[in-house]
Amino acid sequence: MKILVTGGLGFIGSHTVVELQNKGFEVVIIDNLSNSSIDVLDGITTITGVKPHFEKIDLKEKADVVQFFEKHKDIVGVIHFAASKAVGESVKEPLMYYENNIGTLVYMLQAVSKLEKQNFIFSSSCTVYGQADELPITENAPVKPAESPYGNTKQIGEEIIRDTCKVNDKLKSIALRYFNPIGAHPSAEIGELPIGVPQNLVPYITQTGIGMREQLSVFGGDYETPDGTCVRDYIHVVDLAKAHVIALERLLEDKNLENYEVFNLGTGKGSSVLEAIHSFDRVSGKKLKYQIVGRREGDITAAYADTTRANDVLGWKTELSLDDAMASAWKWEQKIRNK
Ligand code: UFG
Repeated sequence: MKILVTGGLGFIGSHTVVELQNKGFEVVIIDNLSNSSIDVLDGITTITGVKPHFEKIDLKEKADVVQFFEKHKDIVGVIHFAASKAVGESVKEPLMYYENNIGTLVYMLQAVSKLEKQNFIFSSSCTVYGQADELPITENAPVKPAESPYGNTKQIGEEIIRDTCKVNDKLKSIALRYFNPIGAHPSAEIGELPIGVPQNLVPYITQTGIGMREQLSVFGGDYETPDGTCVRDYIHVVDLAKAHVIALERLLEDKNLENYEVFNLGTGKGSSVLEAIHSFDRVSGKKLKYQIVGRREGDITAAYADTTRANDVLGWKTELSLDDAMASAWKWEQKIRNK
């Protein structure tokens, strides 16, 4: 069964390609390499022993998208990762984000709507909840006004898919709302490749651990949380990748209850920034240098998933711990810096 993975050389995309291939799916990757490296293809091939079919296409080029689907009418499922994802950049370049994330989604849905099998998995985010009033966060928590154009593209993206599903009953879609994906493949053949100074916690921790950064700034120590630092639901990227395969199988096997469904993907456990640092210290045997500084604008206090729906309805749950994820991120950091 042929599956298209857009953004398949990116962080979550590449791990999902591995899990799809492990399950025997034939994978076709589209990526424009704007925030990924062609070397990832070798990493995937080393892990699975199978080189996925790759086409360098920019999804903003509608004619190229149309032509691609003309060639691949036998695609039975699409997992759509390709998108820009830097929150700060989206504030500065809103139109770029709307073009990259929304324009391309429309082209994808138009193309998928012409296929015989129309199964579509969408990368969404817990950012749609903002600071939820109740923790843990269920899928029924209200969607809050987005804090950034990036977050808005995820909200609008979900709405576009939901509206399309209403008028096209051949189209079946699942939106997956990720909490905080971290870690790398245990083989250290693929992982996260942040460009420039990392904005996210775990890459900043591992780069500090390896000596590329002086110390970690912990943004805020006066939040209303047990230790004063923000709480997030850090999920191992391999667990996250497996959820995509399960969601896809749900659609392929007609097990979905509605033609548009939403699931939270998290561990259900909140960890503070200090707990993440302690995890790094445990798995690396180092003592990370850090300093508590002022709050970062736009950060919410705490977010972690209620995983009941993902566990009971989707039939998926996480298997790996924060320490597993941190250990894999650290192994990956050491591998790429020693190259
Ligand atoms: N943090 C630090 N120091 C750093 C980096 C982060 O203390 O150098 C803290 C943040 O303040 C936050 C926590 O670590 O409390 C996690 O921060 P990340 O940037 O790793 O993750 P966020 O929760 O802010 O962002 C993630 C995704 C976004 C998404 C957002 C909301 O990276 O794509 O969740 O869902 F929009």
